[in-house]
Amino acid sequence: MEPVEKTEAFVKQKLSGEATGHDWFHTLRVHDMAVRIAESEGADLQIVRLAALLHDLDDWKFSDAGTAPAKKWLEDLELDEEVVDHVLDIISSLSFKGAGVETPMKTLEGKVVQDADRLDAMGAIGIARTFAYGGATGQPIHDPGLGPTMHESFEAYKDGRTTTINHFHEKLLLLAQRMNTPAAQKIAFGRHRFMEEFLQRFSHEWDSKL
Ligand code: ADP
Ligand code: NI
Repeated sequence: MEPVEKTEAFVKQKLSGEATGHDWFHTLRVHDMAVRIAESEGADLQIVRLAALLHDLDDWKFSDAGTAPAKKWLEDLELDEEVVDHVLDIISSLSFKGAGVETPMKTLEGKVVQDADRLDAMGAIGIARTFAYGGATGQPIHDPGLGPTMHESFEAYKDGRTTTINHFHEKLLLLAQRMNTPAAQKIAFGRHRFMEEFLQRFSHEWDSKL
């Protein structure tokens, strides 16, 4: 088997059944979207596919291991050192870290994978994932007395007490304007509009207006 196919089988077995929005199907959607964007932007497909497949193997919210398991996996595949370094650099700098924290990607491949991951936090799927995450962490759906916070540091974002509706303002609605590539920007537009419509209806129903 080729390195990418081997990696696909490995990650599938590791992430199957995860219930916080980081399940195998999230990774698969990010992979497929990243390939689609990479093809229209002319990015290196091997780098993009490996980074997309490994990007949530060790999420900071659930593990202290950082990128060590992804590093070990890539080293065992006996890929060129540059490929390993490039993929690890992408997965360690990809995540959203708060409204006021910049997370610039150095290479086209990094920009593509970051866009694909962010698109999966938007639209209908994004709405489903964010409520699944909120439920898994025991966070309220909404509390009119607890407004959103524009976090200025990763620590504040990570440790802040919030609600799932606030998360739309703290992250999801900020993503469309932060897309790196024109191909992703186009897709982000429709997904953003759908989330705005959802929030409007949510607010009307909350106030018994609809
Ligand atoms: P990603 O895989 O997009 O990098 P994260 O690791 O940040 O996502 O989180 C997984 C999912 O949970 C995403 O859809 C994200 O928007 C959502 N999420 C993260 N933090 C919160 C939160 N505090 N409340 C609700 N949803 C959240
Ligand atoms: Ni992800």
